[in-house]
Amino acid sequence: MRRAIFPGSFDPLTNGHLDIIKRSLPLFDEIIIAVLNNVDKHPMFSVRERCSMLKAILPEISNSKCCLTIESFSGLTADFAREREATAIVRGIRAVSDYEYELRMALMNRRLEPAIETVFLMAAEEYSYVSSNLMKQVFELGGRVEGLVPQFVEEKMREKLSKK
Ligand code: PNS
Repeated sequence: MRRAIFPGSFDPLTNGHLDIIKRSLPLFDEIIIAVLNNVDKHPMFSVRERCSMLKAILPEISNSKCCLTIESFSGLTADFAREREATAIVRGIRAVSDYEYELRMALMNRRLEPAIETVFLMAAEEYSYVSSNLMKQVFELGGRVEGLVPQFVEEKMREKLSKK
């Protein structure tokens, strides 16, 4: 049984995240999309909203060979991965600029849990500049994020903005 976790903030989910999830499907029997409950940040969406957006999109990306589930977690990613008996942590790399941060996290996670490997997948070129933070910033300033986040997520972002 090859079980992996794909941890992140997913605030909000982008097409870059979906690209990485799709690429990881053939590699594992089970992937847990692990939504970090980060108390010290000011998220656009609550953890519950982020999880339900991911759940809504699951039927579009699932395949019959890999079981995809969504969970939220608090604390260390390495602890969550061990508790779920995962053997891998999936992370996406977009550009060289991601490498240093990701390397530090991977090495720290390895130190915390030597049996768990971090698996890096390269994002598609068209999403190489897409990050949740950039999407929020552009959207809040009236820019278009069409094609960079799922349409459903864009609608939820619009709803959020209208309530501000
Ligand atoms: O999508 P993000 O925000 O880049 O994801 C970052 C995430 C959630 C993977 C990272 O912040 C994380 O693992 N946080 C949990 C706390 C933790 O384990 N910190 C030490 C990492 S070495």
